[in-house]
Amino acid sequence: MVACNLDRVPASLAALDARQALVLTIDGPTASGKGTIAQRVAQSLGFHYLDSGALYRVAALAATRAGVSLDDAAALADIGASLPVRFEPDGRVLLAGDDVSEAIRTEPAGQAASRVAVHPPLREALLALQRGFQHAPGLVADGRDMGTVVFPQAALKVFLTATPESRADRRYKQLIEKGISANLMALLQDLQQRDARDQSRAVAPLKPAQGAYLLDSTGLDVDQTVEQVLNRWAARR
Ligand code: DC
Repeated sequence: MVACNLDRVPASLAALDARQALVLTIDGPTASGKGTIAQRVAQSLGFHYLDSGALYRVAALAATRAGVSLDDAAALADIGASLPVRFEPDGRVLLAGDDVSEAIRTEPAGQAASRVAVHPPLREALLALQRGFQHAPGLVADGRDMGTVVFPQAALKVFLTATPESRADRRYKQLIEKGISANLMALLQDLQQRDARDQSRAVAPLKPAQGAYLLDSTGLDVDQTVEQVLNRWAARR
């Protein structure tokens, strides 16, 4: 029956749909733990992993390095269309061969990513790059619009949340663990500001995909959250 349906659509679309049967998306607000959970789930399933937020972070950094304004949508799209980014198996992120793994993880880099992400031409330019991550045996993709825009046919779409206070607290602990000084109130304000921008933008705003599994991880630790996602994956139809 599936083959019949697929026969009626163009080959490339059919291929896209079939591959999305092996895609699990995890969307949610900043510091909801998406990255950690998605990586752990990918590892458990032996799937590939896409950190789409890293692409927006790298695009913003590439723009800054090229002297391009973060408000120049057309120039940002040009940058996105030929972004020389590489994700190494050891977790390093390279921009034109330069290791930018640390540079893209700072709070200003996150703010810059959130700013460039409001521009539709850049989002469009990054679509093919993101979809190119679908390879056998499967993909776990995390971001803001993985289930709504990039992989709308994904087999399982998770929307991961936690209260702003618990997200700020987690981020605070992460930074302190890394020896980076941090201010809890400033972090809370920063993430509320970023939530507001990500949710209110006109294109691909942060919201649960239709049929998404809503998972509130407040009060759950990483293992418990991963287990919930894996149970859902095992029970998917
Ligand atoms: O997940 P993150 O914090 O690394 O993402 C950085 C910013 O990039 C985030 O504030 C919004 C943007 N982003 C997006 O618009 N769409 C995605 N799929 C991923 C991230």
